[in-house]
Amino acid sequence: MDHFHYRDGELHVEDVPVRVIAEAVGTPVYIYSRGTFARHAQVFREGLEQAGDVHLAYAIKANPNLAVLRVLANEGYGADVVSGGEMRRAIAAGMPPADIVFSGVGKTEDELVAALEAGIGQFNLELEEEGHVLARLAAERGLTAPAVLRVNPDVDAGTHAKISTGKAENKFGVAISDAAGIFARLSGLAGLNLRGVAIHIGSQLQSLAPLERAYARVGELVAELRGAGHTITHVDLGGGLGVPYRHGDVFPTPAELGAMVARVTKDWGVTLMFEPGRVIAGNAGVLATKVIWVKPGVGDPWVIVDAAMNDLARPALYDAFHDFAAVRPNGERMTANIAGPVCESGDTFAMHREIDAVASGDLAVFRTAGAYGATMASTYNSRALVPEVLVDGDRFAVVADRIDPGTIMAAERVPDWL
Ligand code: LLP
Repeated sequence: MDHFHYRDGELHVEDVPVRVIAEAVGTPVYIYSRGTFARHAQVFREGLEQAGDVHLAYAIKANPNLAVLRVLANEGYGADVVSGGEMRRAIAAGMPPADIVFSGVGKTEDELVAALEAGIGQFNLELEEEGHVLARLAAERGLTAPAVLRVNPDVDAGTHAKISTGKAENKFGVAISDAAGIFARLSGLAGLNLRGVAIHIGSQLQSLAPLERAYARVGELVAELRGAGHTITHVDLGGGLGVPYRHGDVFPTPAELGAMVARVTKDWGVTLMFEPGRVIAGNAGVLATKVIWVKPGVGDPWVIVDAAMNDLARPALYDAFHDFAAVRPNGERMTANIAGPVCESGDTFAMHREIDAVASGDLAVFRTAGAYGATMASTYNSRALVPEVLVDGDRFAVVADRIDPGTIMAAERVPDWL
């Protein structure tokens, strides 16, 4: 459920017309619903709590805006971070360092030190050498780093190849068959408390079956590690639950995930951790845009909008589908291609799609843009970085400014020898 709906013939976010925000802030602009973020966070928690003692670490990469993080901190969420920058955001937004998990296949020593000094709650190790380095850095500071080992369960998540992470050929984690040996070598080290395992097999999962297969393999590994004398208290089951981008698509609910987790993990006796991103953020945001032209094409007309691949990269990167809807639909439909102003043909949001009829000057939105939207934006073609707005009931605030090309240019230098 979300808080994006038509009232008096125009699209509102909670109680604010999209038109009002577009007039105040300009377009393109990301618009988020506080109530939707909070509700998704609550529904996920309620769904997973049936599995017992759970720790929820929102995957910041999905939407790292500070105001969004504050909403989730208020819901009791910690954070899954993958860089020093994300860690700084989580702490700045008020998330306790103890509730932060640090994932990522290429953490630098500087990042590990910053995380140790901040006192974060858990390091998810991606390879054996990282464990040795972390142990040394912690011991040098008189600290003990809580850590788990990320394993690669070699499961096909059944999602887009670019967002699959749990197949043997992916760069993530260590092979499950190597885990026991790595535990044996790392667990005695001063400075390291290797207390469990982690997995994450991919994103936008449409079925629970691959997750269940992966979790079952983790269960076998936990038993094997305990059999070898290791104390296992934490298992991080990652994120990955998908969301419907197309009207009518059906996805597993957090309650269904929770029921499966409860069944598969009932004898594990550990604290379970989850790293949901998209399921919290995806349907809590839209990208509002204005139609610049409707241009004749060879077949369908081209609807040229003022948002582009630099603002919302998912269609260009993954051929992703984002629903397009007029802010004030007139009841008519048209079949069109939708594209942005960027100078490459990849800057296309949809081809031969039936949409609300629109004309030059009309406002529209790309839906389900709350996750992996603004966070993946760039300034390609010297376009501005898109601003973000958070709505709460009948009020709204700009929570990220539009960064115009002048600001970007101010950080560039022409050396005096040119
Ligand atoms: N934990 C780890 C270790 C991850 O790598 C990810 C996502 C998550 C949690 C959160 O997954 P989620 O619940 O959001 O599925 N840019 C792509 C998605 C990349 C996902 C990367 N990892 C997209 O726009 O579809």
